[in-house]
Amino acid sequence: PYPAYTQLRNEEPVARVLLPDGQYAWMITRYEDALEALKNQKFIKDYRKLYEEDDSDYGSVFSENMLFADMPDHRRLRGLVSKAFTPQMIAGMRDRIQEITDELLDEIADQETVNLIDAFAFPLPIIVICEMLGIPTKDRDDFRVWSNSMIEGSNGAYAQDIQKHMQDFIQYLRDRFETVRKNPGGDLISKLIVAEEQDDQLTEKELYGVVSLLIIAGHETTVNFIGNSIMALVENPDQLALLKEQPELIKSAIEETLRFNDPVEYSTSRWASEDMVFKGQAMKKGDLVIVILNAANHDPSQFENPEQLDITREKSKHLAFGKGIHACLGAPLARLEGEIAIASFFKRYPNAQLNINKEDLEWRTGMIVRGVRELPLLLN
Ligand code: HEM
Repeated sequence: PYPAYTQLRNEEPVARVLLPDGQYAWMITRYEDALEALKNQKFIKDYRKLYEEDDSDYGSVFSENMLFADMPDHRRLRGLVSKAFTPQMIAGMRDRIQEITDELLDEIADQETVNLIDAFAFPLPIIVICEMLGIPTKDRDDFRVWSNSMIEGSNGAYAQDIQKHMQDFIQYLRDRFETVRKNPGGDLISKLIVAEEQDDQLTEKELYGVVSLLIIAGHETTVNFIGNSIMALVENPDQLALLKEQPELIKSAIEETLRFNDPVEYSTSRWASEDMVFKGQAMKKGDLVIVILNAANHDPSQFENPEQLDITREKSKHLAFGKGIHACLGAPLARLEGEIAIASFFKRYPNAQLNINKEDLEWRTGMIVRGVRELPLLLN
């Protein structure tokens, strides 16, 4: 499915490539190189260290968080949030996730066709993350508009809209924080606000950064994970049949759909912190470096028959959640949501099929996530 990546991986595994937004980047496409690059802390995340740039409003809301921090800030920021992502805490969400899933599936019960993204893949993760953060889920449609614009606008095409949506988003958070300060609860935002106010472990900018990262990272990737996994299974009826016969394969099935149809596109960017040589290529300080997880996840030296969806693949060491200090903090939550969503969907709709030619599916633009805009399915 990725001929350009395959060619790069075979011929020029660390390649200087022109991106759609006009900048050049080093693309890393082999599995072993990807692992090494993700763990190499000479590739940094906080580009402001390179240029000593002033923050613009656009940059600041995203840049003050763990994903764009290097050591030692990274440890502090991740530490604060990881307290809320303990295995017990995630396991405790299981019943609630099942309940939300069942409600959403009930809502489409009498429909013959459905756009799975709008009806299911989008609402499920946004409801879950909003509940964890203590944000009213009635505001989820606003989040969708804002985060769509920020994510898809990452190719620079809609600068004015992005600016406006970003401001609305920041204003929303400002009002929300105000409310929580007056009346804190047991949710994650309340905990972070305590860290900001009392313990002085978090600056105000970082509070905005961390919360917006959780809202955006917590749902955008998972929407595409659910959509891409269901798509992979309906397109591979033999594998879907196997899953129906052996529902206990659900865990390895979701790992395989993550590998096969990775929900993340170019989100793993880093900058070379100094002039350096990586895999024989001379990189300059400030060069943009992107690890192409999709390409690594289809590397035949790591995965036998990589272009085949095989839900029985054992101990797949796919890189969909990244690796190293920035490895996805939300992976256990995403896995739980995916497992419940996909198992429950096919239990109700075992004969679901694509209701559109595969070639006509419209993919989302932008460089961060990888998924379709709509997934029309015939349910029965
Ligand atoms: C980081 C993928 C779901 C929160 C990452 C990274 C990847 C990733 C590849 C590393 C980026 C890099 O190294 O540059 C995914 C995928 C998901 C998913 C494929 C769904 C299937 C979630 C969820 C949450 C979340 C549900 C939170 C609720 C985060 C955070 C980071 C992160 C906070 C930054 C970690 C750090 O910098 O230390 N994710 N993610 N993700 N993800 Fe996820």
